[in-house]
Amino acid sequence: MSCKVVVLISGSGSNLQALLDTTAQADAPFSVCAVISNKAEAYGLNRATQAGIPGIVVDHRSFPNRGAFDQALIKEIDQHKPSLVVLAGFMRILTPEFVRHYGGRLINIHPSLLPKYQGLNTHQRALEAGDKTHGVTVHFVTEELDGGPSIVQAIVPIKEGDTPALLAKRVQRQEHTIYPMAVSWFAQQRLQMADDRVLLDGELLPHCGVQISA
Ligand code: GRF
Repeated sequence: MSCKVVVLISGSGSNLQALLDTTAQADAPFSVCAVISNKAEAYGLNRATQAGIPGIVVDHRSFPNRGAFDQALIKEIDQHKPSLVVLAGFMRILTPEFVRHYGGRLINIHPSLLPKYQGLNTHQRALEAGDKTHGVTVHFVTEELDGGPSIVQAIVPIKEGDTPALLAKRVQRQEHTIYPMAVSWFAQQRLQMADDRVLLDGELLPHCGVQISA
């Protein structure tokens, strides 16, 4: 039986689309059983509908505080009994209670070579720093924001004349490759988080995770 995944989004959902495209392949090791957005207008909800998957809105503004929102989110997610929860452009900071509830089965994609550039505006910050390379990281989520152990990173060269938008586009292309890859590893039971480190096929990965050069 294929591994059930719930995807949380807030926006366009291009990473969600990459995951959905993977599930359309005959030998896909996972399926997306629900897509949840904190924003009703998120375009990713249309992608879910087109794929015949429930697109659910849990609007953070309907709750008095972060804790109450996260509890409602847990309730919704758990109805679908997923093995893995995937954050794909989900723009809410999660409470420690939420993160602990899904310990070892909650992953995120962040557009930088972590631990560099946690937080927002990563492409601009890499350009301003004069970096030669930039990239994207898939990591397990822990209580530290953008701080959990890395599973896989794609390294993207910075080119002469790059703008944040151009660079973001090239980084996103890599996102759409490495996110389905990491979710597939998890679904095939090849991936594990243990004591804040990542094991792939039983081998401890370096702190940067598996590195791929674009
Ligand atoms: C991606 O750039 C991802 O790295 C970040 O949020 C963005 C989501 O884009 N966490 P999309 O909604 O998947 O198109």
